[in-house]
Amino acid sequence: MQAESSTAHTAQLLGSRFGTAPEVAVILGSGWGGVTQHLLEPQQIPYTDLPAFEPTGVEGHAGTLLVGRMGNQRVALLAGRRHTYENNDCTGMAGAIRSLQAWGVQVLVQTNAAGSLRAHMPPGSLMLIADHINAPQRSPLVGEPGNARFVDMGAAYDAELRAQATRVAQAASIALPEGTYLWALGPQFETPTEIRMFAAWGADAVGMSTVPETILARHAGLRVLALSLMTNMAAGLGHESLTHAATLEQARASGDYAARFLAELVASLADLPSLHS
Ligand code: HPA
Repeated sequence: MQAESSTAHTAQLLGSRFGTAPEVAVILGSGWGGVTQHLLEPQQIPYTDLPAFEPTGVEGHAGTLLVGRMGNQRVALLAGRRHTYENNDCTGMAGAIRSLQAWGVQVLVQTNAAGSLRAHMPPGSLMLIADHINAPQRSPLVGEPGNARFVDMGAAYDAELRAQATRVAQAASIALPEGTYLWALGPQFETPTEIRMFAAWGADAVGMSTVPETILARHAGLRVLALSLMTNMAAGLGHESLTHAATLEQARASGDYAARFLAELVASLADLPSLHS
């Protein structure tokens, strides 16, 4: 009950601060911070001013919500996300996602950094998430009351939004293969044998986020679009040992290109009739 009232209160705060909700919100993952530079007329509020938003565990950066527009599309950017590996809690983004929905947001765009399991997606490439594997089999909906918790995950990543992303990528001559993202709890990287097993399961990329948020967003009735930026070949598939610093460095190296593409994609959503009825 308390969680519900803090969601409603946060939605109310967002409305009085920023007015009508933008149709689109974007969670910025590792390497995607450059997206904020494409935000026009930005306004911002720290997560610490929004009761339903849990501060991120990153030192010196508790998280910021920015609101502005890209082209003609109004958008909210969530700079900072909680990861399950921070405190073993996969519900860290529940309050944020539910308040965005209560405010009136319709689409959640997720971005992340990931390790590639496929030779056709070398470091620096982008992947459009078509489906996911919840390898830890953890759910942020455990303990939720009612039948709404039995969420259909058969089409979690919105087909119309994926088609739009593919069109924008083609127009910009950007390779955007679709693939399956596998959530690994982390924070340690995977072993080579785990990666061979995940590839046999059908995973194309592996990362430590996104899946709990997709489940939360679908439960809340939001449409989901998700993009991965490959920062490394997954364990055993590349020549170098995996470090957080090296993945961040690769994310920085290709982040500008990824950010530009995302800004174009968000701007293109202004012309999507299903979002502007
Ligand atoms: N494994 C898990 N998460 C990641 C990786 C990886 O190889 N690269 C970036 N995030």
